[in-house]
Amino acid sequence: MNDFKFKNNVLHVENVSINNLIKKFDTPFYCYSANTIIGKINEFKKYFDNSNIIICYAVKANPNIAILKILSKLGCGAEVVSIGELLRTLKAGISNNKIVFSGVGKTSEELEYAIKKNILQINVESLDELRLIIKISKKLKKKVNLGLRINPNIDAKTHSKITTGTKNDKFGLDIETAEKIYKNYNNNPNIKILGLSIHIGSQITNINPFVRAFSKITNFIKKLNKNKIIIKNLDLGGGIGIRYNSERTISIGLYAKKILSISKQLKCNIILEPGRILVGESGILVSKVLYLKKSLKNHFAIIDTGMNDLIRPALYNSEHSIEKIRKEKNSKKNYTIVGPICETADTFIKKSSIKKLKINDVIYFKNVGAYGASMSSTYNSRPIIPEIMVYKKNFGIIRNKETVVKQISKEKIPSWIFKIKN
Ligand code: LLP
Repeated sequence: MNDFKFKNNVLHVENVSINNLIKKFDTPFYCYSANTIIGKINEFKKYFDNSNIIICYAVKANPNIAILKILSKLGCGAEVVSIGELLRTLKAGISNNKIVFSGVGKTSEELEYAIKKNILQINVESLDELRLIIKISKKLKKKVNLGLRINPNIDAKTHSKITTGTKNDKFGLDIETAEKIYKNYNNNPNIKILGLSIHIGSQITNINPFVRAFSKITNFIKKLNKNKIIIKNLDLGGGIGIRYNSERTISIGLYAKKILSISKQLKCNIILEPGRILVGESGILVSKVLYLKKSLKNHFAIIDTGMNDLIRPALYNSEHSIEKIRKEKNSKKNYTIVGPICETADTFIKKSSIKKLKINDVIYFKNVGAYGASMSSTYNSRPIIPEIMVYKKNFGIIRNKETVVKQISKEKIPSWIFKIKN
C-alpha cells in the first residue's frame, strides 16, 4: 500500500489528502489509487513480458469501467463470467481476442453474444453447456474457440467458500469426462477445442496447491499430445492471495517462476486470470463513526458503512484492518466495529485495538479494492456508495452514489394489489 501514506499526520492517497476527498464526498465511499493498480500490472508484466503469456484480469474482482480502462490501456485482457462483464470489458476497449468467458451457468443469450463477438475462448464447464454451444454455433454458422475447464481435484487450502477445484465443487469437468469430450467432439465442425483451463480457488497463500494443480494439468496435456491432440491455450486461472493482516502470501516472482517453467515444457500460450492481486491493495473504504456504545461485553463503534457495502467479513469471516485517517498520539482501546444493518453478521472486527474513537471520526478499511464494491448490495434499502479514483494529484468520481429514489423507481405496484381489501 505504498500509495496510501500519512503526510502531516493525515492519510494521503497518492498526492491527495483524504481530507480533500471527505470535504467533497460524503462518507462512506470507496477510494482507489490508480498508481497501485498500474504498479501491480507492471509487476506482473515484468515477469511475463516477451513471452506467450496473456494476462486476462478477472473482472469480478472489480468491474468498474475506469479500472477496466486502465487495464485495457496497459494491454491486459479479461476473464468474464457474464454478459454484463463482457459488455463492460468491450466498452472499456479490451479487445475481443483477449477475452475468456468462464462460469458454470452461462445462458444461451450470453453464449450467443460471446460467440458473435469472436472472443479468445469460452471455457466450457459441462457437457450440457458444450451441446448448447454447438447448437448455437451451428445456428450462427460459426466455429467457436473453446477451452475445457478441468476440475483437478486439488484443495487450494483457502476458505471453503472460495475453493473451486475439488471434486465436491461445482466447477469444471473431471479429467475422464474431458478425455471423452476430446474423443467424441474433437472433429465437430462447429467448435475448436483449443484450450484447457483450471482455477482452483481464490486468496491462495501457499504455492503448493498451485504447483500440484499445474503439474496435473501439464501431465494431462502431455497425454493429449501423445494422442495427437494439440492444446493451443492453457488457462491457469487466478487465485493468488494478498496480505490482509499478518498472513504470509505468495510473491508474484515465485508464482511466475512456476508458470514460466510450464511454459518452457509445453508449446502453448498461457492465459492467467488474476483478479485480487491486481486490484486488492488499490482500494480503501472510508467511513465515519456514527455512535459509540458501551455494552456489558463490548465497546461498539457504529459506523456509517455496512455489510451491504463490504460483505467479506460477514461472508468469509475475513478481517480487513481498520485505522483512523489521522495519526494521533491517543491511547488505544479495543473496539468492536459494526455497521448499521439489522444483522449481527454486520460486524467488521471484534475487540480490535484502535486509537480512541469519538463520534464523527473518520476511519478506513485497507485492501478492499477487490471483492469490495463488486459484491455490494442495496440490502436494508441502502444506496450503493460512490467510488472515487485518485491518480497523482487528480481525483474524480468513477461511480456516482445511487439514490434510493432511483432504487424505488424500478419497483411497481400492480393494479390488483390496490384491490386487496382490509
Ligand atoms: N478465474 C476464475 C474462473 C474465477 O472464478 C476467479 C475468481 C478468478 C479467476 C480470480 O480469482 P482471484 O485472482 O481474484 O483470486 N468473493 C471472494 C472471491 C471469489 C473469487 C471467485 N472467482 C472474496 O471476496 O474473497
